[in-house]
Amino acid sequence: MDYSLLITGGHTSLGLAASRHLLATAPEAHLIWATRSRQAAEQATADLGAPDRITILPLDLNTLASVRHFADDLLARLHAGTLLPLRVLVCNAGIQFAQGQHWTAEGIEQTFGVNYLAHFVLVERLLPALEPAGRLVLVGSGTHFDAPRIWTAAIFGMPPAQYLGVAPLARGEVPAALPPASAPANQFRYATSKLCTLMYMYELDRRLRAAGSRVTVTTFDPGLMPGTGLGRANTGAALWAWKNVLPVLRLFPGVNSTKTSGRHLAWLATSPAVAGVTGKYFEGRQAVSSSALSRQPKL
Ligand SMILES: NC(=O)c1ccc[n+]([C@@H]2O[C@H](COP(=O)([O-])OP(=O)(O)OC[C@H]3O[C@@H](n4cnc5c(N)ncnc54)[C@H](OP(=O)(O)O)[C@@H]3O)[C@@H](O)[C@H]2O)c1
Repeated sequence: MDYSLLITGGHTSLGLAASRHLLATAPEAHLIWATRSRQAAEQATADLGAPDRITILPLDLNTLASVRHFADDLLARLHAGTLLPLRVLVCNAGIQFAQGQHWTAEGIEQTFGVNYLAHFVLVERLLPALEPAGRLVLVGSGTHFDAPRIWTAAIFGMPPAQYLGVAPLARGEVPAALPPASAPANQFRYATSKLCTLMYMYELDRRLRAAGSRVTVTTFDPGLMPGTGLGRANTGAALWAWKNVLPVLRLFPGVNSTKTSGRHLAWLATSPAVAGVTGKYFEGRQAVSSSALSRQPKL
């Protein structure tokens, strides 16, 4: 092993599938799982039979204080040489709510806070510690499209993402037509958090290039992966369908198992085939155009 690869939410679903693939295909990588669920993560490392190839560190993205503490601790370990140099950072953890309004410890709308803002702070703090040609991979979603281009978003009736501005999004504001605690309001918050992730990727890429950096940043859309913990906030029939019925849709394009998407994510994070590729949005292994809204430098 000669470098560290940090992944948020590495112990479950997409993160776990990517980790499993990395353990098999990247023997030089030591994984760091940043997680709020230590017990589950320990169980997962035991199940993988690779406790010596994974370091579990505590991170709760629901509080920026935890993110800052995590980053300081990680930087100290890297500085002391107790962790291998950081080459890859994968921002994978994410949440989606079904109903209600939810807040981080600092009073920020939680979908925006966890999916976008906490990862933004994490990246900004860890960037200086990344190896010179290090990689950042942000996990996005096809739900960010401002038109219903993605049929899987259309079947869920997902309202289009809109950039309302940082402060309104942090306050949990939604378009006037959506009742703030409704399911569509929470779908809007999720889609918009992924739009923000893409906007950040493009701006970060512009700044890295302007600074002459060789660090790359890409965004990965795993496609719809029914059955993962992302649907856990649903109840009743919706939860049952997410776990039992929707996985059948894997027969159709754009719908994947975590195994398939995990392989693609591991590829984007480590493959020489994408060395130097930056500022791109990937659906699986295909670089595609993200929404027009996500590509407006002024925003
Ligand atoms: N599933 C889909 O259809 C789909 C489609 C497009 C994009 N995505 C994206 O893919 C990524 C992975 O999603 P998934 O489907 O694998 O969902 P998942 O099974 O719910 O996994 C999400 C991971 O994020 C972690 N997490 C959530 N809140 C956290 C917090 N406050 N602090 C630290 N970790 C936290 C969870 O940890 P805990 O176990 O501690 O909760 C879990 O490990 C997400 O970014 C998601 O938006 C998913």
